Amino acid sequence: MSLDASDYKFKLPDFEHPSLLFVLEDGLKNLIGVPLFYKPYIKSYGLKGNERVLDFGCGGGVGSRCLAGYLKRGGRLTCLDISHYWVEKAKKRLARYANVECRVGDIRELDIAVASFDVVSIFHVLHDIPPAERQATVQALSQVLKAGGRVFVREPTRKSHGMAVGEIRRLFAAAGLSETEYRETKSEYMGRYEKLG
Ligand SMILES: C[S@@+](CC[C@H](N)C(=O)[O-])C[C@H]1O[C@@H](n2cnc3c(N)ncnc32)[C@H](O)[C@@H]1O
Repeated sequence: MSLDASDYKFKLPDFEHPSLLFVLEDGLKNLIGVPLFYKPYIKSYGLKGNERVLDFGCGGGVGSRCLAGYLKRGGRLTCLDISHYWVEKAKKRLARYANVECRVGDIRELDIAVASFDVVSIFHVLHDIPPAERQATVQALSQVLKAGGRVFVREPTRKSHGMAVGEIRRLFAAAGLSETEYRETKSEYMGRYEKLG
């Protein structure tokens, strides 16, 4: 039986003061997560290299580094996170890329031009946003996406840690984004969405 949003309990992590465990996990992701998970997954986006990409909830920039590596034909990457701590970490990891900017803040409040991105990448972020704020956040992401632009979203779905697949679909559909592909495992949902013109 599939789980619904009401089956999940939400606890807001302290992203400004991450626990030692989170910091160690980030270091591990950077070392072995990149070749094993991030790189093959991000390669599957099929980027041409000239896109404007938003890494929403970039964290310490582990996935952003892979994205930057696929944007070598004039593409630009914006890394955005709500946490100063994680954006500082991402800035250090991405310092050598001239086509990357890192920003801290809430997408609903930042002055990002409407329709400015070809691609939005969301890797394990939405489930960490308070449920009441998720729809407005996805709406804001849809606004900064160009017509025909694509969203790649990957979220954990376990009851102990994650969010309901049905909720993800409802959030995106309500923001004018159509699911074009998806894959589910026991613990994750990976979806692709397109903004119709
Ligand atoms: C589990 S981490 C994933 C980080 C990164 N995507 C990765 O794969 O390493 C979740 C991230 O989402 C960020 N986050 C949570 N709420 C956010 C929001 N409303 N806007 C932007 N980032 C947010 C957190 O600060 C944290 O860095």
